[in-house]
Amino acid sequence: MVKNLNEALSNFSDRITDAIKAGKDISITTHIDCDGITSGSIITKALIRAGAKVTARTVKEMNGSVIKNMQQDSRDFHIVTDLGGGFARQLDEALGEQWLVLDHHEIPDEEHDNDRVINAWKYGINGGTEICAGGMAYFASKALDRHNTDLAPIAVVSALGDRQDQGEKKSFTGKNAEIVEEAKSGGRLQIDMDLLLVGRETRQLVDALAFTSQPFIEGLTWSRDSCFSLFKSAGISLKDGGRFRTPSDLTDDEKRVLIEAITKFASSQNATQIMDELIGHTYTFPSEERRSFLRDAREFSTMLNSCGRIGRAGVGMAICMGDRNRMLQEGENILVEYRKMIREYMNILTNERWRINGTTSCVMVNGEGVIPETMTGTISSLLAGSPKNAGKIIILRTDGEENTVKFSSRKSIGCKTDVNLSVLMKTGAEKFNGIGGGHDAAAGARITKDKLDGFLDFLEDSVNGIQNQNNS
Ligand code: C5P
Repeated sequence: MVKNLNEALSNFSDRITDAIKAGKDISITTHIDCDGITSGSIITKALIRAGAKVTARTVKEMNGSVIKNMQQDSRDFHIVTDLGGGFARQLDEALGEQWLVLDHHEIPDEEHDNDRVINAWKYGINGGTEICAGGMAYFASKALDRHNTDLAPIAVVSALGDRQDQGEKKSFTGKNAEIVEEAKSGGRLQIDMDLLLVGRETRQLVDALAFTSQPFIEGLTWSRDSCFSLFKSAGISLKDGGRFRTPSDLTDDEKRVLIEAITKFASSQNATQIMDELIGHTYTFPSEERRSFLRDAREFSTMLNSCGRIGRAGVGMAICMGDRNRMLQEGENILVEYRKMIREYMNILTNERWRINGTTSCVMVNGEGVIPETMTGTISSLLAGSPKNAGKIIILRTDGEENTVKFSSRKSIGCKTDVNLSVLMKTGAEKFNGIGGGHDAAAGARITKDKLDGFLDFLEDSVNGIQNQNNS
């Protein structure tokens, strides 16, 4: 059994090199979110460079029918990225030895013995904070050819997409820090300490401040009018000639003035904490054009997430693999559409109060008939960022494909519960013949509709039960 990452990656490289030499067709199956798109693109690009015949596709989740498709597929060898935890036995049964998984989600103990599963946790690396699937794919691509270091920027995007910038001032730790260093030393990444406003390169100033929800500033966040007044009274011009200015246009002096204005505005709230959260590391790709949504790595990750969430993951993969022509415009349109959809869904959830049921430890949100299943992760993350839900677990559900219900859960800011959401979703869903999994602070599940009441009772009992024990 392989015990360290380098050995696992060297095995990966040997197996892929043999497969290419044998003329095998290789298929890559990856997840639709930012980490899935980036990891799938990194490995696809590395394989194409190595001379492989390769086809990539994205799926919403790993399940029995995806595995059946892989089995019936004409391809000879299968690589799975950002997916597959808990499915090793089924993959073995369907594909024999002709598969490999590169992943970072928590996995059951029995998969630690399977060398086809190349998962961060097996090598003592925290897959929740120190590396994601994009990082695993990056190291695998480097094992194939050390010249693949030019793919490091895409791995940085993946880590931001999975919110692994959890070190001091939004820095990276562990293997992610190594990746960031490699991207930086190759001149492909610039790191600064700056204001963490969303849409640094593309959003006009008022929108950038209004739509920044971490930190949440009561009275400013989601209020364009107050943000407009704040910029006006601070004397910061919103336009440069006929063009709206974005956060990346602010001078150092203007940034200082803006920080002072926000501190003053937030003085009755926890201003020190707000300012602490509002300033941190930013990650910029100098070779991307100014005011492009690909220049700021966080915006890049948002664009990839939006591609996947609205069913256009292929556009994201093309961009990650270097397409800067038609796909760029497509990506921009997708981002606009995605933001519009988010606003609509959040409005409905705010107006239709019957959809939200809260206890002191948990908020259950019913998105049935409104939120498409691909958007549950985005919406549950947003709900988890709202101060109204601080300290609580968010569990959002909506109707999914084929008579199922899709669940997405998140720990909100300040949530101190001992409940591990990955365990909760996995063991809970399995009790009701469903599937679930993920991370300690972000996990999902799917069950059939007929099991809904039972599963909801289970969730409430588990969350409140453990909470009560903690309080006693
Ligand atoms: O769907 P959602 O965004 O809520 O999922 C949160 C995390 O849990 C993601 O990283 C996703 O890949 C993971 N997940 C999983 N198994 C599932 C559902 C979600 O590993 N069945």
